[in-house]
Amino acid sequence: GKAIRVALLGCGTVGTEIVRLLTEQADDLAARVGAPVELAGIAVRRANKPRPGVPAELLTTDAAALVTRDDVDVVVEVIGGIEPTRDWLLSALEAGKSVVSANKALLAEHAGDLFAAADASGADLYFEAAVAGAIPLLRPLRESLAGDRITRVMGIVNGTTNFILSAMDETGAGYAETLDEASRLGYAEADPTADVEGYDAASKAAILASIAFHTRVTAGQVHREGITAVTPADVAAARGLGRTIKLLAICERVATDDGESVAVRVHPAMIPRSHPLAGVNGAFNAVFVEADAAGQLMFYGQGAGGAPTASAVLGDLVAVARNRVVGGRGPRESAYADLPVRPIAQA
Ligand code: NDP
Ligand code: HSE
Repeated sequence: GKAIRVALLGCGTVGTEIVRLLTEQADDLAARVGAPVELAGIAVRRANKPRPGVPAELLTTDAAALVTRDDVDVVVEVIGGIEPTRDWLLSALEAGKSVVSANKALLAEHAGDLFAAADASGADLYFEAAVAGAIPLLRPLRESLAGDRITRVMGIVNGTTNFILSAMDETGAGYAETLDEASRLGYAEADPTADVEGYDAASKAAILASIAFHTRVTAGQVHREGITAVTPADVAAARGLGRTIKLLAICERVATDDGESVAVRVHPAMIPRSHPLAGVNGAFNAVFVEADAAGQLMFYGQGAGGAPTASAVLGDLVAVARNRVVGGRGPRESAYADLPVRPIAQA
């Protein structure tokens, strides 16, 4: 069939791996999609940066022009940040392009606008890589569990802080040197404050709660506490008690006088070393889901890093490209029930 043409926004830690996998697996992807998947252009900030393995003729610094180009079918966004990325993705969706994004900060704040634009034009909006890196989690919540009633989603959703806490626990390493290593390995956000102060986990918790409970939760509605106040002495004390410290994201349905609401929080917690989450180390993530009929489910895998994240992005790209080929669409998001979100007292 006619090729599916992809505009890639961003070619850093994740984008470089997307280009590599798209190139190396071109034949397999074409077979799975039913049409070749081709790069139409790659938007970056620095035009002259050396990028081994990236076709130089595809590079542009004009993302705004690229996203609405006639020959583009799908926009894959791995730049990050809210503006101007939000404007670019809105114009892409309004122009009928499907969008795949790894941008949790944006999705946690503006999912409503983006879904409205997607629903209006009939385009797809997928963002599996925005939560828990390589772990298939959002599509299982959105699709496989769509016939069930999810009551709780809980786990470790930030690789950088888990990497730091694991190192503090295992080797007694200092906080600062471990954060530098997480940045060097491509786990940390461009501004690692987002990781260590819990903003990144709060964005992911907002996305998880929105999808799991069919409502709209934004990052600002999440109670948030990061790991900057956790000291080596705290970690040692926890160890002495047979426990370890993990940064947890917890999304729950809670009963209220007049029905039900949603409560979402992110904070460090001391958990018994026998708990399955205690064995989740380094940049790994793990998420427990509880649903009425399914009971308990556990999702585990690499939560950060270029290749793991690119895997999730490519899975979404195959899904939206297939939809284009057969004329189908992913789940519509306008059917949200809007459960109230319990107000938080911010720490
Ligand atoms: P990087 O900082 O490595 O890459 C960002 C890319 O965006 C760079 O190529 C940069 O260009 C480009 N860029 C930045 N600003 C602009 C602009 N104004 N116009 C055009 N291009 C621009 O980030 P990552 O690859 O690590 O992360 C990308 C996204 O994926 C973020 O949303 C992040 O939160 C998310 N994510 C990252 C994960 C990870 O483990 N790294 C995991 C899951 C999600 P240039 O190369 O010229 O600097
Ligand atoms: N900075 C994020 C993390 C990247 O450490 O989990 C993956 O979303």
